[in-house]
Amino acid sequence: MIDVLSGIIDTDKGKDIVRLGLVRDLRVTEDDVSFTIFLKDPGRPFAFEVESICIDAIRSEFGSEMQIQVKMDNEMIGLGDLTVDGDKGAQALGDNVLNTIAVASGKGGVGKSTVAVNLAIALARQGYEVGIMDADIYGPSIPTMFGIEGARPNVNQNRQIVPIQKYGVKVLSMGFLVDPDKAVIWRGPMVSSAIKQFLGETDWGDLDFLIMDLPPGTGDIQLTIVQTVPLSGALIVSTPQRVALADARKGVAMFEQVNVPVLGIVENMAYFTPPDLPGRKYYLFGEGGAKALAAELGIPVLAELPIDESLRRSCDEGEPVSATGYKLFEDLAVSVARVVAVRNATKPTSKKIDILRR
Ligand SMILES: Nc1ncnc2c1ncn2[C@@H]1O[C@H](COP(=O)(O)OP(=O)(O)O)[C@@H](O)[C@H]1O
Ligand SMILES: [Mg+2]
Repeated sequence: MIDVLSGIIDTDKGKDIVRLGLVRDLRVTEDDVSFTIFLKDPGRPFAFEVESICIDAIRSEFGSEMQIQVKMDNEMIGLGDLTVDGDKGAQALGDNVLNTIAVASGKGGVGKSTVAVNLAIALARQGYEVGIMDADIYGPSIPTMFGIEGARPNVNQNRQIVPIQKYGVKVLSMGFLVDPDKAVIWRGPMVSSAIKQFLGETDWGDLDFLIMDLPPGTGDIQLTIVQTVPLSGALIVSTPQRVALADARKGVAMFEQVNVPVLGIVENMAYFTPPDLPGRKYYLFGEGGAKALAAELGIPVLAELPIDESLRRSCDEGEPVSATGYKLFEDLAVSVARVVAVRNATKPTSKKIDILRR
């Protein structure tokens, strides 16, 4: 179903309706389907055609017996973009950033930045508009991994920061703005306001995905950040060790506390395959831990990445493996785009604020 709806292009925007987040409340059973088309700007021609286009597409794929219920919803009640919890702060980013995904980990050094960077590049290679924001103020490593250390972003006529483009990705790092040595003494609210300002005053243009590399840990700072930015979902990176998994669990709990859906776990350094024994997988840190944790929490494992020297070297040298194509990150990008599309399509239309209740 998602695939059929993903094939429908919003003619005014040139992107499909799932990617644009127009499909909500999607429910599918064997012989019936219902969903809501949610339009922010219902005055345009496409708004009048979309319902029949959807019905035709579904019938031609699933047959004319299919019961289809399409509800049209819009924000024409004069309240503009006011929405309840979960979307708060969205104003800071504007309508042009469709999905914001945090990459988080309980522990440092598990490969969070490696995953964030390669995922961003892989998504860009698949034709998405992608930005990456390095919110790890204490150890910003995104500039190094993109090979743009010491770069200084420009400011445009509207006094907005212009991210640096590399490998098809718009890159911004807190490292461009603050000295990590000084940031160490910052407290949660300071980090939060710096990030808010940074995000709000940046010329991102149209983005399908904004990937945020969070500082490691699940403490106050992380909690403040995830409350600052309107997040569509989070990815938790963990290594297979028991301690790392215990911290990953805390990460999941943190996002649940603020109602941010955890999209899945990425297990990094899961196994080692010697170059001369390409068929072998040695699970040096233990096997199956992430799968068990994911099953327990009801979230998917979206990737299992090997210990791979080329991964490390490529990032150190500022030329991540994804820039030239790396199968596992390409697969991860497909999975992430898919879970986000499903999430967006099945989430309820944002409730309007009740003016009388104040
Ligand atoms: N799968 C991997 N194989 C080999 N080295 C890796 C892998 N993932 C990460 N690394 C290396 O481990 C170190 C820590 O990774 P990094 O992404 O900076 O972690 P974090 O952002 O979680 O602190 C880096 O030197 C990185 O190149
Ligand atoms: Mg990092």
